[in-house]
Amino acid sequence: MTLFRLDGKHALVTGGSKGIGLAAAHALVRLGAHVTIAARGEAALRTAADALGARCVVADVGTPEGVRAAVEAAGAAGPVDILVSNAGGPPPSLPSQVTEEAWRRGFDVTFLSTVRLADAVLPGMRERGWGRIIAITSLTVERPALTLPVSNALRAGVTNYLRTLALEVAADGVTCNTVAPGYTATDRLRALHADPAEAEKLQNRIPARRFGQPNEVGAAVAFLATNEAGYITGQEVLVDGGWGI
Ligand SMILES: NC(=O)c1ccc[n+]([C@@H]2O[C@H](COP(=O)([O-])OP(=O)(O)OC[C@H]3O[C@@H](n4cnc5c(N)ncnc54)[C@H](OP(=O)(O)O)[C@@H]3O)[C@@H](O)[C@H]2O)c1
Repeated sequence: MTLFRLDGKHALVTGGSKGIGLAAAHALVRLGAHVTIAARGEAALRTAADALGARCVVADVGTPEGVRAAVEAAGAAGPVDILVSNAGGPPPSLPSQVTEEAWRRGFDVTFLSTVRLADAVLPGMRERGWGRIIAITSLTVERPALTLPVSNALRAGVTNYLRTLALEVAADGVTCNTVAPGYTATDRLRALHADPAEAEKLQNRIPARRFGQPNEVGAAVAFLATNEAGYITGQEVLVDGGWGI
């Protein structure tokens, strides 16, 4: 038997046009899955989809309509076997400075997106007796970062939501896990740590002494999607160069 293959499986990867989401989509395609990616910006999305040989749908997963559009477009290409729930991270701020509006948008994009996406794809997965729900969270679930309060709080919610959902659906062949990246070299990281001296200082504090690469996070996502990972559920996989130890 060939190990770690996803031939015949269909994955929906949201936030799939760049960074970690795009790397996860690449890893899934390499294992033989066919993939639908979703994001808001059409130009980058189309470029990514062409490079991947994937389908794409313009959708903001921070709204119920966006989630519906993503799931419907993916559904037109076949049942969704693998959901990778991912989107952009909330903007930085001190905890005492977060506005009510920022909490609400954060809740929609960072928490409810995963719940809404999972609700939409779960019935089919349970019926077919096979499914994978994987959310991209963050190392900040374990090590809260001072300037990322919305991410720290809401990703902890995603983590425990999926651990709880895992209890409900484990007997139906559906696993629910989170992949929590540490500092990973994407546009978001470059925007948050633009000063090269500060970026170098930060890398020196990571046990691996470097930022992670998006494909290192993508590989963890793809592994969790395989048959071989079918007994791993309700887990948080840190991909962080040892930062969270
Ligand atoms: N990079 C890191 O070091 C790191 C560490 C820990 C956690 N994370 C988290 O991992 C996730 C991915 O990070 P990244 O570094 O890959 O970010 P990124 O490079 O900014 O990519 C984000 C992707 O999500 C899409 N997106 C953003 N908001 C969306 C929305 N509302 N609906 C649909 N798609 C949306 C973006 O495209 P559009 O903007 O065109 O929609 C893009 O494809 C983020 O939540 C981030 O906070 C990242």
